[in-house]
Amino acid sequence: MARPVQRPRSGTIPSMEVATNAIRDSATFIVFGASGDLAKKKTFPALFALYRKDYLPRDVHIVGYARTKMNTEDYHRRISSYIKRDNDPNFDTKLEEFKNLSFVYSESFCRLNAHLVEIEKSYRTSNRIFYLALPPSVFIPVAKHAREECYSRGVNRIIVEKPFGKDLQSCRELLNELKKYWKEEETYRIDHYLGKEMVKNLLVLRFANITMGAGWDKNSISNVQITFKEPFGTEGRGGYFDEFGIIRDVLQNHMLQVLSILTMERPVSFSPEDIRDEKVKVLRAIPPVERKDTLLGQYVAADDKPGYLDDDTVPKDSVCPTFAATVLWIHNPRWEGVPFIMKAGKALNQAKVEVRIQFKDVTQGIFAEISRNELVVRIQPQEAVYLKLNTKSPGYAFRAIPTEMDLTYNRRFTEATIPEAYEVLILDALRGDQSNFVRDDELDVAWKIFTPILHWIDGKEGEKPKPEPYPYGSRGPATLDAFVESYGYKRTEEAYNWPTTNLSNL
Ligand code: BG6
Repeated sequence: MARPVQRPRSGTIPSMEVATNAIRDSATFIVFGASGDLAKKKTFPALFALYRKDYLPRDVHIVGYARTKMNTEDYHRRISSYIKRDNDPNFDTKLEEFKNLSFVYSESFCRLNAHLVEIEKSYRTSNRIFYLALPPSVFIPVAKHAREECYSRGVNRIIVEKPFGKDLQSCRELLNELKKYWKEEETYRIDHYLGKEMVKNLLVLRFANITMGAGWDKNSISNVQITFKEPFGTEGRGGYFDEFGIIRDVLQNHMLQVLSILTMERPVSFSPEDIRDEKVKVLRAIPPVERKDTLLGQYVAADDKPGYLDDDTVPKDSVCPTFAATVLWIHNPRWEGVPFIMKAGKALNQAKVEVRIQFKDVTQGIFAEISRNELVVRIQPQEAVYLKLNTKSPGYAFRAIPTEMDLTYNRRFTEATIPEAYEVLILDALRGDQSNFVRDDELDVAWKIFTPILHWIDGKEGEKPKPEPYPYGSRGPATLDAFVESYGYKRTEEAYNWPTTNLSNL
């Protein structure tokens, strides 16, 4: 008798199962820079979220290390200040438990180690995750002391955050220093964009759908835009920002990571090294960004909003770009000739991060002046994937109008909660999965692409490019539309409305 066919309810991805080197029974997180902004806003809320969902090992402690002396009460207030209360009836109990697992120290590394040993007395193994939420100036000394004085007999991992240097050379120096103390397989370099749901989804969208694969190249695609928009300026972070600028802050890392996943070849497997090998391979086919392919901007005051130079922490004559559009070219058979336009800016008209793939015109003849297809992946806010298509206008008329096939997450997956990027990445670090962390050679090639243009921007007085001013809250520099269009982008006709089309307007 024929056996009934069993169909899986959802596709499985075998090699994405928990890695064999996962930390399971016990872990101590040691957060350096525990009194800083990053720890308060991202690290502790993420650790708490994982704790209350039971994703942390049964035996767990969270140890903050801060130079500022604090008593336990102040510390607990600080670490919970960005944890958002919700309707869960167990919220308060869980938060109390979490606080009871969390200590703060500010003594020497040797004393810190003694505390850790004490805490871990009842643990079967002492696995330690060192999280460096620190400014780059103290990065190496802390990594060194942590390795030399606080390394345990169990599994030890170090999580580090950008900035990884300021250019190719400083990045190489930093990597080499770090390598003296920590092995590559112990080092988890965070680019938090790799923990975002829609960035992770790119691999599935691309490689689990034959239809996507079919048109994913220079034959079908005219141009690609990767856009990052924030509606606020540097507000208090001007001191840090002025040293780095928008290219180092967002383009060279977050946007380039998105680009590499979007354009890499299919990996042999989903193992971390196979994925990262493909990312490096495609990045190596990108030559350094050229000056002629760059548009820089800086926001100025508008209405009651201050300009960049009004920030007290910014030098009055700063020419640091708060907006940049750069075009990257990939010299490989799949992508030759397709411009990848990467745009990022602060103090713009909205908050949005998206990838917009614009396909080529259909052959003219039976159609003229028809809109192009576009595939849009909205990374945030409101995760969505939609494909702009031409369709016959409903009714007696026979004409084509632009509409879209729309997968908006909060409508389609009504009960899904999308975790914060930091939660996903800390969990990956516990599980020993490095796929969504940046490997050393990825960094090297990413800096190669941007270093020449950054040196020009940082260059000698009088030779530095002057960014184009744009008003706070605007769409960016006035020449932006012309810049983007010069690379082949065609705006959809005015009648296009999202998400509903009023036919009487056509
Ligand atoms: C950080 C940048 O890496 O990313 C910030 O330093 C930027 O300037 C932030 O605001 C954006 O992250 P997200 O997750 O809010 O898009």
